[in-house]
Amino acid sequence: MRLHTSPSLLALSAAPLVVNSLQLPFGIQLPAVIDSRLTSLKSSISQIQVPSFINKIIDPTGSSPLLSLHRDLVAIPSVTGDEEKVAKFLEKYLTSKNFHVELIPVESPEYPSSKKRYNVFAYPEGGSKSAPILLTSHIDTVPPFLPFKDGLRTVYGRGSCDAKASVASQIIAVEELLSQKHITEDTISLLFVVGEETTGDGMRHINTLNMKWEAVVFGEPTELKLAVGHKGLAMLEVEAKGKASHSGYPSLGVNANSHMINALYKLDHLHLPSSDLLGNTTLNVGIMNGGVAANVIPAFARAEIAIRIAAKTFKEVKDIVDGALKDVEGIEATWKKPYYDPVFCDHDIEGFETIATSYGTDIPNLNGDHKKYLYGPGSILVAHGDNEKIDKSDLYEAVKGYKRIVKGILNAKAVVVHDPAKEEAAAAVVVEEVVQVKIDVPEAPANKAEGKNDKEEHVEYVTILPVDTP
Ligand SMILES: *[C@@H]1O[C@H](CO)[C@@H](O)[C@H](O)[C@H]1NC(C)=O
Repeated sequence: MRLHTSPSLLALSAAPLVVNSLQLPFGIQLPAVIDSRLTSLKSSISQIQVPSFINKIIDPTGSSPLLSLHRDLVAIPSVTGDEEKVAKFLEKYLTSKNFHVELIPVESPEYPSSKKRYNVFAYPEGGSKSAPILLTSHIDTVPPFLPFKDGLRTVYGRGSCDAKASVASQIIAVEELLSQKHITEDTISLLFVVGEETTGDGMRHINTLNMKWEAVVFGEPTELKLAVGHKGLAMLEVEAKGKASHSGYPSLGVNANSHMINALYKLDHLHLPSSDLLGNTTLNVGIMNGGVAANVIPAFARAEIAIRIAAKTFKEVKDIVDGALKDVEGIEATWKKPYYDPVFCDHDIEGFETIATSYGTDIPNLNGDHKKYLYGPGSILVAHGDNEKIDKSDLYEAVKGYKRIVKGILNAKAVVVHDPAKEEAAAAVVVEEVVQVKIDVPEAPANKAEGKNDKEEHVEYVTILPVDTP
């Protein structure tokens, strides 16, 4: 998720509950000496065969494929520009899970060429590079790196929410879809890109590779809701030039601040387009500077403005703004990068709450006429803050969510053959030739809405989840 706003707004949320070396239920903190005994006991236990339920209580994170993958991702620093290690980790991990993995080098003038940066593209062994569905997210994070910390219900660390929660749950979702035979190997591929938090260079590089998908599922924190879209962005800088003079003799100078006030008043009172899905286009004068002293006629003023576009296009909004400013004396407006149109996402899958988000994503950076879905665990409100975190239960929910989205995409393509016997046996749905996937009969919509009746979604871990102590 890319924000172009002050991070201070986001530094919210409660203090972390942290268990240092050994997880115990109910937030018990042990004296160091006992704690270290238990830790060594734990390591000796792990060398003998113990029933898995004991292991799951002693080490809920290590014994959960999802939580341990997420932990390993978050533990690797990957601030934008420095994504090599996490890409190499994913290459190794996905290879070990029988994926064919390609590291795609990304070079950009913004980042030193001494740093190797890779997008990670993967598809199941026996599958195909041109699978119709792509699950994608990003492996870079905003600065600064914050180490992984394991709490009882929640894990903390940079990227724990944005977007390594999406990366981990997308991977586990695909592993489960394959192992549970909900999809065939040639249905899906995975793409984890660099550079999302700054210029989107990782995703834009994909456009040079001539790849195509029918549907792309973008992973970003949407609070487990299916996004209807996100606003577009326009940014401009306005400068006013004047001539300094003594404030007692204004006629000897030219007041840059007066020009700026005229310009900003017009902008503040502009009528900008709105849409039912994304709400109002909003305009924020984020920075105003001008003048040097109260008794000097200001020779220079400057303002920076961000516009979140809810309807029409960047070009149309730019034309409205340029039109409003064209008669204002003494100012010059410069449009900045990045800018993008509002993004409208597909949200035609039952059983999800929907959300309109106001942050930027890689969606506009990937060309093509594919269907676009935006979904992921975690909240924007903590994503870039110094207490970034994710609830473990949200990670598990996201795995289910991604599986339901993939099944929903396939069901939408499915041509159901009416054979009552088959239907009664809850057997098979025949799918269009192109896709060649066999999928189970979709769950009844009523069940989907409740989201809890998916029998194969049994919980594969046991952990103790008391209420975090305040
Ligand atoms: C959009 O703007 C209108 C008019 O200014 C206002 O009444 C409405 O509350 C705004 N909607 C939202 C969602 O902020």
